[in-house]
Amino acid sequence: MEMAKIGPGVAGGNNRQTLTDEDGEGRKLFRTWCDEAGLSTGVDRMGTMFARREGTDPEALPVYVGSHLDTQPTGGKYDGVLGVLSGLEVVRTLNDLGIRTRHPIVVTNWTNEEGARFAPAMLASGVFAGALDLDYAYQRKDGEGKSFGDELKRIGWVGDEEVGARKMHAYFEYHIEQGPILEAEDKTIGVVTHCQGLWWLEFTLTGKEAHTGSTPMNMRVNAGLAMARILEMVQKVAMDAQPGAVGGVGQMRFSPNSRNVLPGKVVFTVDIRSPDQAKLDGMRARVEKEAAAICAELGVGCSVEAVGHFDPVTFDPTLVGRVRAAAEKLGYSHMNIISGAGHDACWAAKVAPATMVMCPCVDGLSHNEAEEISKDWARAGADVLFHAVVETAEIVE
Ligand code: GLV
Ligand code: MN
Ligand code: MN
Repeated sequence: MEMAKIGPGVAGGNNRQTLTDEDGEGRKLFRTWCDEAGLSTGVDRMGTMFARREGTDPEALPVYVGSHLDTQPTGGKYDGVLGVLSGLEVVRTLNDLGIRTRHPIVVTNWTNEEGARFAPAMLASGVFAGALDLDYAYQRKDGEGKSFGDELKRIGWVGDEEVGARKMHAYFEYHIEQGPILEAEDKTIGVVTHCQGLWWLEFTLTGKEAHTGSTPMNMRVNAGLAMARILEMVQKVAMDAQPGAVGGVGQMRFSPNSRNVLPGKVVFTVDIRSPDQAKLDGMRARVEKEAAAICAELGVGCSVEAVGHFDPVTFDPTLVGRVRAAAEKLGYSHMNIISGAGHDACWAAKVAPATMVMCPCVDGLSHNEAEEISKDWARAGADVLFHAVVETAEIVE
C-alpha cells in the first residue's frame, strides 16, 4: 500500500510505468527499505536493482527472488510489486529470526517488465539472459519517440554492473495469477510448472489518406478496414488453436487519427501465446500469411516486425517440487498451473534453475486498476516463497 501511493492511477490502481519519474520514486523507496534491512544494493546497466543479504559461504552463488515494480498505464497494485516486496519480506523475516543461510539471497527489481512503454516486455531480464542485446534495449522507443537509454539516464538509474555478469544458484518469482483458474478451483497456491511462449507482432499498414465523405467506396485504400479484418482473423486463428492458445490486439494507432480522414497508416500489435511450441509458431505463420492476403485484397501495404518473443518455458522440476512441498507442509491447497502471462522468471530460466509461486486474484482480473487480492492469499504465497527460498539457500545451524 505504501508503494501504491507512488504513481497512483485514475481508478484506485497504479500508473508507474517504467523509467518515468514515478518509477524513479518507487525505486528510491524500495532502496530505502533494502538499506533498512541491511542489504547492499547493486544496479546493472539496464537499471535492474539487486539487493543482497550475505550468506555464510563466500563461494556459494546467491538465490535470487524478484519481480518488477513497474506497472501498466492502468495497472493494479500487485502485478510485480507483490513479488519484489515478498522477496524483501523473506529477508526481513530471516533477519527477525536471526537465521543465517549458506547462500546469499538477492532481492531483484527488474527494469521494464511490462513492456507497456518500451516493447518488448521483460526487456532487462531478456538482456540479462543474453537473449536480447544491450544496444537494442537502449534504442527501444516509447510512443513519444523517447529512447529507453535516454530515459534510464534521465531518471538516474544507469548502474555500473555489466548486465548478466551475476550468476544465480536459483531464481524464484512470486506473482498473482492474473487469471481466473486458482480462484475457480478454490486453490490458494499455484505451483507453476510452465510458462506459455509468446509472439508480439507489430503490423504497419499503409493505405491512402483521403476524405471520408467525398471518396467513393470503390476508390478507397483503407488501412483501417484491413486492420479490422486482421483483428477478426487473429481471433479466429486463436479459436481454431483451442485449447491452450490465445491471441488478441491491444494497441492500435491510426494516422492521422482524424474522424473525417481515411487512415493512411495504421500501426497495431498482435499478441499470440501458447504453451505448445508448434501451436505457437503455427499461429504466427498463419496470422502473417492471412494478414498479407487481406492487405493484398484491399490494396493496402503490409509490413510486420516481431517485437517480442520467447519460447514456452519448463520450470526447474527440483524447485517446482520445493514450492509444492512448501505448500503441502504449510497446509495450503495447491494445484499445478501454467503461467498465462510472461514473467522475468521466463528469461531467468535460461541461465539458472527457476520457478514461480502464484496466488489467486479476484475474478482473475489483472492489467486493470481494479486488480485485487486478499491478505490471506498474499500471506500464503509469501509463506510458500519463504520456505522454498530458505530450503534452497540452506539454513546454517
Ligand atoms: C507481461 O506482463 C505480459 O504481457 O505477460
Ligand atoms: Mn507482472
Ligand atoms: Mn503485468
